[in-house]
Amino acid sequence: MIEQIKKDLKAQLENHFNIDEVVIEEPKKGRADLAIPLFAYAKLWKTSPMHIFEKFNEVIQTNEILEKIEFTNGFLNIYLKRDKIAQHILSAVHLEKEHYGDQNIGKDEVVAMDYSSPNIAKSFGVGHLRSTVIGNALKKIYTKLGYKMIAINHLGDWGTQFGKMIVAYEKWGNEKQVKKNPISELQKLYVRFHDAEKTEPELEQQARDVFRALEQNDEKYTQLWTWFKDESLREFMEMYDLLGVEFDYFTGESFYNDKMDAVVEALENKGLLKIDQGATIVDLGEDLPPALIKRTDGATLYMTRDIAALIYRHDTYHANHVLYVVGNEQILHFKQLQAVTDLMGYHLHVDHINFGLVLIDGKKMSTRGGKFKRLEVVIDQAIKEAKEAIEAKNPNLKNQMEVAKAVGIGAIIFNDLKNERHLDIDFNLENMLKFEGQTGPYLQYSSVRIASILRENTLDINLVDSTYFREDDYFELIKQLGQFPHIIFKAKESNSPNQIARYILSLAQSFNSFYGKQRINVEDVGHKNANLLFIESIRTVLNEGLRLLGIKVLDEM
Ligand code: ARG
Repeated sequence: MIEQIKKDLKAQLENHFNIDEVVIEEPKKGRADLAIPLFAYAKLWKTSPMHIFEKFNEVIQTNEILEKIEFTNGFLNIYLKRDKIAQHILSAVHLEKEHYGDQNIGKDEVVAMDYSSPNIAKSFGVGHLRSTVIGNALKKIYTKLGYKMIAINHLGDWGTQFGKMIVAYEKWGNEKQVKKNPISELQKLYVRFHDAEKTEPELEQQARDVFRALEQNDEKYTQLWTWFKDESLREFMEMYDLLGVEFDYFTGESFYNDKMDAVVEALENKGLLKIDQGATIVDLGEDLPPALIKRTDGATLYMTRDIAALIYRHDTYHANHVLYVVGNEQILHFKQLQAVTDLMGYHLHVDHINFGLVLIDGKKMSTRGGKFKRLEVVIDQAIKEAKEAIEAKNPNLKNQMEVAKAVGIGAIIFNDLKNERHLDIDFNLENMLKFEGQTGPYLQYSSVRIASILRENTLDINLVDSTYFREDDYFELIKQLGQFPHIIFKAKESNSPNQIARYILSLAQSFNSFYGKQRINVEDVGHKNANLLFIESIRTVLNEGLRLLGIKVLDEM
């Protein structure tokens, strides 16, 4: 709302005086609501700031929100009718509830998003966790803004590694063991293959032959591969359930196997294919290395499948904009993908939502070897520690396990999203589970605090005395609430859930410092109801912010 007032003022002055970039500041607490520094114009027009003030003052149109305009120390100071603004914002939040901030800028435009996308028969990596968490938040943010999101899990379920896996399984595999611990058994087989390959180089050719046969739908291999895939998915689904993440499609790389010939043909017809040392490539000029379409042995590649997938998404879902939530290390790959489809004549937006590594004690966290075990183990640990903290704080709480899950997982999610995504993040369970500081539990706890006050006191909206909202402590926070719709928009524009994370953190901090100073349940009925409306609105926005990040909101903890 304040943004809009500033915009209107700016437009009035800029148009009338034919100047650009009028600066409108929001002074610190205790002063005017808005201020325009006049010295620069005085200098420009060789006159006094007072004179500029008079000229500006004539142009600024009064409206029901402007209280008064004053000249002080070279500034044009604007005082707003704070209670009007407050009423406007708070009644919007009160009426719209979780829909506050909904916007229809997407107008049902289809946006496909490819996220999480782990590789089957391998542990779910920390990179995939980041992709899952960031993607899930973006899906909710875009949806809130009226876009139609198609959530796709582009499973890594195709490629020569499956030839290796099948050869290894046929040599050393054991059905029972795989059934019991699918991913870790399959991963062991894969590692064993690599070790054996060193002394038996012929294994590599065997694996290629097997993958070629798989590509041609060999029955026996297809059966094995399907089994590996089903077992892996079963493990992944447990993780998604825990995280509360859902997809519309699990169309992995294998899904495009029968769509690859058409892609190669289309590239051929456009005259884009070249043979380079036996491999088939698309030359991308000086700035980018060529895109590899087929290997010497004719097998297709990650890139070929991505081209097929992008075209499929365009043809099937009518998505011209596809978000790929994938780590920084694939920046080049997505530039190539964009370049190839541009050359093919498509007008598609390949939007790589890149992100950094997960570090532990400053070192890269890897799922294999390394300090950290499997991701499920880490998540279980977070839940266990959250449970201990809750037991200590609130031993009589019901549903402790459910709350511990929400807190443990919320902590992991917030730890990820509070940072700008392209940066590396630190993974320290102890820090992220603290109830103070920049953590998920801190936010959940702030919401719970408000919930408990609201359980004990009922708001009567007709008894609210809005004059209290003129006070700085209230008004600052109300202005913050008024910014929420704009913050969501900014988060979408920059594909940064981080904007929302920062915003709700600051909102919770403001609330807690307000609550430290001001009693809610005061004698005066008008004041008390003003307080209740005020904190109810804070909770609504805080909760909606948490929901957009994929963090569960609690009533008690
Ligand atoms: N499975 C890939 C990996 O783990 C990520 C796939 C990302 N999506 C895509 N369309 N390339 O590296």
